[in-house]
Amino acid sequence: MGKVKRILPIFQTTVAQPMNHLPHVAIRPFIAADSAQVQILLSDARVAQTAGNIPYPYPQYGAKNWITSHGAQHRSGTAIIRAIICLEDDQCIGAISIDQISRGLNASGNLGYWVGVPYWNKGYCVQAGRLMLDLAAREYAMARLVAAHRIANAASGRVLEKLGFSELEPQRMTNLSGQYLFRCYEKRL
Ligand SMILES: CC(C)(COP(=O)(O)OP(=O)(O)OC[C@H]1O[C@@H](n2cnc3c(N)ncnc32)[C@H](O)[C@@H]1OP(=O)(O)O)[C@@H](O)C(=O)NCCC(=O)NCCS
Repeated sequence: MGKVKRILPIFQTTVAQPMNHLPHVAIRPFIAADSAQVQILLSDARVAQTAGNIPYPYPQYGAKNWITSHGAQHRSGTAIIRAIICLEDDQCIGAISIDQISRGLNASGNLGYWVGVPYWNKGYCVQAGRLMLDLAAREYAMARLVAAHRIANAASGRVLEKLGFSELEPQRMTNLSGQYLFRCYEKRL
């Protein structure tokens, strides 16, 4: 009989943590119980409209339906979607994902994220990003990630800078909020 693979409910890593600095977040797959918190956090225009791929006003049952859709995306290998969990109170405070995944040699994907407004500017997204980069490289053998943000979204640019992304040529792209010029980035894993 083959070995049973141990499944960890929460993914944590030991990479790139400064000395004496414990991680404040973990990332794990979403569970149905996260939907009430996600519904509240995504009902804020500052998150939904800035993220660009989230409908606003956020629809009733939007979070429940979104979380239900993750299983199929994970099974088909088209996206890796994780909840960002604040370890102080075990609350879901945001999401981080890699979509548009291409497989094979030089497998690549597109990094996206959002954090609820009450949790902004505490370093949570950067910490979650480090965990996600490690997951992408170690468990999904991904070689390259790309990411983009609207010019005005300086916080997102700072997150990518802190994660070690390099800037590419800007591109005009369309999202749910309209057509904008985006700063574009890549990172080799
Ligand atoms: C972008 C976002 C995910 C960042 O989450 P976060 O947990 O606050 O990020 P962190 O605290 O890890 O890092 C944010 C960095 O941006 C900096 N920052 C915040 N606002 C800034 C601004 N207006 N100009 C420049 N830097 C800014 C913070 O100071 C911090 O940098 P520091 O640690 O060097 O001080 C969050 O703002 C968000 O969810 N925004 C709405 C959705 C979104 O924009 N998603 C990304 C779409 S591309």
